[in-house]
Amino acid sequence: MPDMLIPPITNDPSKVQLARISHVYFEHHDLDKFREFAKDFGFAEAEVAKDCIYFRGYGVDPYVYVATKSKDGKPRFLGPAFVAASEEEFQKASSIKGAKVMDLGSAPGGGKIVTFSRPDDTFFHVVYGQEERVMSKEEPSATHEQQGAFNKPFNKPRLGKFQRYHPGPALVHKLGHFGYVVPEFDQELEWYTSNFNFVPSDILYHWDFSNIDVLTFMHLDLGEEYSDHHCFFMQRAEPHVKKTFVHHTSYEVADFDTQLLGHDWLAKKGWESVWGVGRHVLGSQIFDYWRDSSGFKIEHYTDGDVVNTHIPTKRDVVGPFSVWGPEVPKDFGDKSLETTG
Ligand SMILES: [Fe+2]
Repeated sequence: MPDMLIPPITNDPSKVQLARISHVYFEHHDLDKFREFAKDFGFAEAEVAKDCIYFRGYGVDPYVYVATKSKDGKPRFLGPAFVAASEEEFQKASSIKGAKVMDLGSAPGGGKIVTFSRPDDTFFHVVYGQEERVMSKEEPSATHEQQGAFNKPFNKPRLGKFQRYHPGPALVHKLGHFGYVVPEFDQELEWYTSNFNFVPSDILYHWDFSNIDVLTFMHLDLGEEYSDHHCFFMQRAEPHVKKTFVHHTSYEVADFDTQLLGHDWLAKKGWESVWGVGRHVLGSQIFDYWRDSSGFKIEHYTDGDVVNTHIPTKRDVVGPFSVWGPEVPKDFGDKSLETTG
């Protein structure tokens, strides 16, 4: 097999500097059904417009998920949006070949957006100038009445205080990451990493061919500042996959109890569990994957790793994706049925 290796990737000031992942765009054939799912998943509604709902978490972003009614009845992923680090970085993004700049005037928080259409029919967006939400001091919760520090065997800091919870959805803080399975892997990875500050945290190579890199988890390089271990992962599609598809999108929740209470809530409401609750190896997140009302895989995560410019990229053979949790479903890597993009 010829070499299919990811070249060394580092950030430099000539690239557009992105500050964080912000939101995703999806189309659903049944918007009411998705609205039901979103409520049980732990999204809040930021704004309900005609055939379009903006869902938010409790973080700074005015919304984390934009759901629009699909005109042709097919559910579809229309790309992630990242926040540019400054007006200047936004201008840089808008001068990249193929950029289309638009006003986000009518969306909550306003701002501007630049959209790129990729040759594999996917989209990538950069936003700037959105008005950020004012966050509450304490994390809001639909499940936690009272929670103190954890009492461990040798150290019990919670004295005379009780842990009290009740059933409810796992409230979402923010969008954490998304991932693509890509036939034109090398070309797409080159576009993203030569134009923006995506840097691999981990690279995984094929179990039989050490000269074929098959997956990378990327973070945004923010210099000294720490950022999530991955906000974007890209997987080399197997030869039978002809078209790029989104593997899943993932949203942060507060803690392990929130995960388990949220899991029970979604199960009780009749939604389909995909995989979880478990603990990932790379990124360390406690994960829980579900299928939304259109069939897309969607994840709650908590307790993920953060990295900065001093943490080197690691390269290893593909290994188990969880350290504990249920066995990974055989079709976990496959495209969800009926979904597009
Ligand atoms: Fe994930």
